[in-house]
Amino acid sequence: MNVLLIGSGGREHALAWKLAQSPKLGKLFAMPGNPGIAEHAQLVDINAADHRATIDFCLKNSIELIVIGPEAPLVDGLADNLRTMGFCVFGPNKIPAQLEGSKGFTKELCARYGIPTARFSLASDRLAAEAALEDFKLPVVIKADGLAAGKGVVIAETPEDVEAALDAMFGGGFGAAGSSVVIEEFMTGEEASFFALTDGETVVPFGSAQDHKRVGDGDTGPNTGGMGAYSPASVLTPALEQRAMDEIVRPTVKALAERGTPYSGVLYAGLMLTAEGPKLVEYNARFGDPECQVLMMRLKSDLLGLMCAVAKGKLADEEPPEFSSEAALTIVMAANGYPATPEKGGPISGIAAAEADGAKVFQAGTAAAAGKLVASGGRVLNVTATGASVGEARNLAYEAAGRIDFPAGFYRRDIGWRELERGR
Ligand code: AMP
Ligand code: GLY
Repeated sequence: MNVLLIGSGGREHALAWKLAQSPKLGKLFAMPGNPGIAEHAQLVDINAADHRATIDFCLKNSIELIVIGPEAPLVDGLADNLRTMGFCVFGPNKIPAQLEGSKGFTKELCARYGIPTARFSLASDRLAAEAALEDFKLPVVIKADGLAAGKGVVIAETPEDVEAALDAMFGGGFGAAGSSVVIEEFMTGEEASFFALTDGETVVPFGSAQDHKRVGDGDTGPNTGGMGAYSPASVLTPALEQRAMDEIVRPTVKALAERGTPYSGVLYAGLMLTAEGPKLVEYNARFGDPECQVLMMRLKSDLLGLMCAVAKGKLADEEPPEFSSEAALTIVMAANGYPATPEKGGPISGIAAAEADGAKVFQAGTAAAAGKLVASGGRVLNVTATGASVGEARNLAYEAAGRIDFPAGFYRRDIGWRELERGR
């Protein structure tokens, strides 16, 4: 079967690597891909925002499955247009992708169906926001409604923080994403990411992970897309995972099906494990990056078989996904200056040496320049290893990272600290 994978990050490299192991795979294409993905796929230079060109490519190359990695094409309705043309697609249509595309959409769905989440209020102008804020204590969480690349969330501790957040959101600082805001009660607890595959009806758990959002050691500095991750997240015990399935994920999938806009693909639930149980922080309509990298290292089942079953609405006929009992951990190597102004063009070498003992280096923001590998984005490499425990996976991943020569880059030295502290 010929497959088209859309995206160009470390998540997509991990998906390509795993898809390439499938006996069902014919030819793999990636749009636009990156030099790491090129080891498994033929790269296609078409912009996924051009739906017509994407469809033409799929028709010409007998594509039987399209896997959409990032959120932007999902929220943009690429899956809808491909499905209209009769293609099988892994990834939700535009309306169900609003679970990620609009925080207000998700909060209203939670309210209507009794799905546990932080108490909230929606406001579409500053006056309404100020009035709503009277019902919330500090700290309070203020979020831009739309996609803001992880930057649209402010945890306001003081009245001055609240003012600054409202200024930024209603002052156009977040573009259309900030034209309405969600005000939320601040929840306390540990965060964990939980994944499920669904074809709109059948829902199966697909592993857990924890990531490190802040750029610096000890979880300091600005937020990023994620500086490292590990799986499984032992804090999400089997009992809590069951509650997350029963109280959050299954009711969400059922609600969207009832509304006539079923969700098909992977559903990523960001959970807060509060004293009262798991509560939803946010949904993503795709795999996490770099969470996907650690999930793929542990997945034993055939990814292509699972994705096809999801896309065809036949997940109930498929054996449930199976994961290795080993842990996996990934370290993100980022370009100096990330997240504000990452330096481009820094040379990279040593990947083969890093992989010599079983670690895997997924490429995220890389490019080939005159036959050499260089940095071309903020997050550049994901050095990933497995081991009997998170601690063992961590040691192997750091050993591998030490063999990479990327002078214009940096990485955190404490990925996995929560899990290691628990083990003590
Ligand atoms: P989000 O983009 O909604 O995932 O928010 C980004 C981060 O802000 C989350 O990963 C949490 O660490 C934090 N956060 C968001 N909402 C809340 C909340 N209601 N209470 C506490 N922390 C939150
Ligand atoms: N690592 C967080 C995300 O993919 O949204």
